[in-house]
Amino acid sequence: MTQDTQTYADFSDRVGESLLQGKVAIVTGAGRGLGRCYALALAAAGAAVVVNDADEASAEEVASSITAEGGQALAVAARIGPLAVAQDLVHQAVSTFGRLDIMVTNAGILRDRVTWKMSEEDFDAVIETHLKGTWTCGRAAVEHMRSQGEGGRLILIGSPAGQFGSFGQSNYAPAKAGIVALGRTWSMELARDGITVNVVVPTAMTAMTATIPVYKEWAEAYEQGVALPQAARQDHALGGPEDVAPLIAWLASDDAQGVTGQAIGLGGDRLTLYSHPGELITADEPGGWSTAGIARAWSERFASHAQPSGMPPKPDPREHPAASESQNSQG
Ligand SMILES: NC(=O)c1ccc[n+]([C@@H]2O[C@H](COP(=O)([O-])OP(=O)(O)OC[C@H]3O[C@@H](n4cnc5c(N)ncnc54)[C@H](O)[C@@H]3O)[C@@H](O)[C@H]2O)c1
Repeated sequence: MTQDTQTYADFSDRVGESLLQGKVAIVTGAGRGLGRCYALALAAAGAAVVVNDADEASAEEVASSITAEGGQALAVAARIGPLAVAQDLVHQAVSTFGRLDIMVTNAGILRDRVTWKMSEEDFDAVIETHLKGTWTCGRAAVEHMRSQGEGGRLILIGSPAGQFGSFGQSNYAPAKAGIVALGRTWSMELARDGITVNVVVPTAMTAMTATIPVYKEWAEAYEQGVALPQAARQDHALGGPEDVAPLIAWLASDDAQGVTGQAIGLGGDRLTLYSHPGELITADEPGGWSTAGIARAWSERFASHAQPSGMPPKPDPREHPAASESQNSQG
């Protein structure tokens, strides 16, 4: 299945058809890629879905493909970022469908450049869309969910870049790491209201991933409908956007009521629970530390625990071409 060809009906096997009956969801950035699959999956599970995208035509296409198959959807073209946009989105969901249960903050852009070549505009645009856009959409949703008094679901979208750090993404990586911190903070603030807050860390072949040079060959193969090899689907947790959607549907469901404050990855065949930052080792110096004391403690006790930056090593995609492995598997 190539990207953006999935339909609402394709998700009925992967998500229970009545899992979200009677619920109302907003998915931001749902005109293509992952967000499109989230909207289709939530609709297939019975939810009425507000399909937001900055690109009006793609939001309309996704909403009409849902309604054409008997689902409920409304397209709202708007650029996520400002609070007023988020409040209008919530208002449109509530005035059209009567309530709001689920907010998926998926809208996102990349403006990659190494820091010393990155413009202030590219830094601001990424922070505005991802970090501020997540905060404004969450804030607007929570205002309504709290007054509704029946709990709710905030499903935020992180990235491996935010979990590990990522060369050339000094705007995107901290925005995504900030979203995980936001998820932890909101999970505490909203526990009493029965509103769960989790961060999904997706990995999938989309227009966004296709720009990553190391994935060029897998992206081309995927675009032509060639199945990705096991090294992609497992070691790189990289499949299609449809592979991630069942996690969104489950977190949105009543079944996941007890799950909050978590960062959960899904991509290809691999489901991952991420750890949160924690204290690795501590040392106490009665009366306080001197610089020389810190230097000694570092070399004697801390240095061996120093943490790496960047993604854990994975098999080289060039050694696992999609075409030859899928031909092998057919033969
Ligand atoms: N694809 C991956 O492997 C991957 C990995 C980690 C995280 N993510 C995250 O998942 C989300 C979706 O990524 P994708 O790969 O589907 O990207 P994509 O580029 O294919 O789709 C993003 C969609 O968001 C829309 N959009 C962008 N800015 C917007 C705004 N301000 N308001 C409304 N809509 C906006 C775009 O028009 C587009 O339709 C993003 O938050 C991304 O950071 C993706």
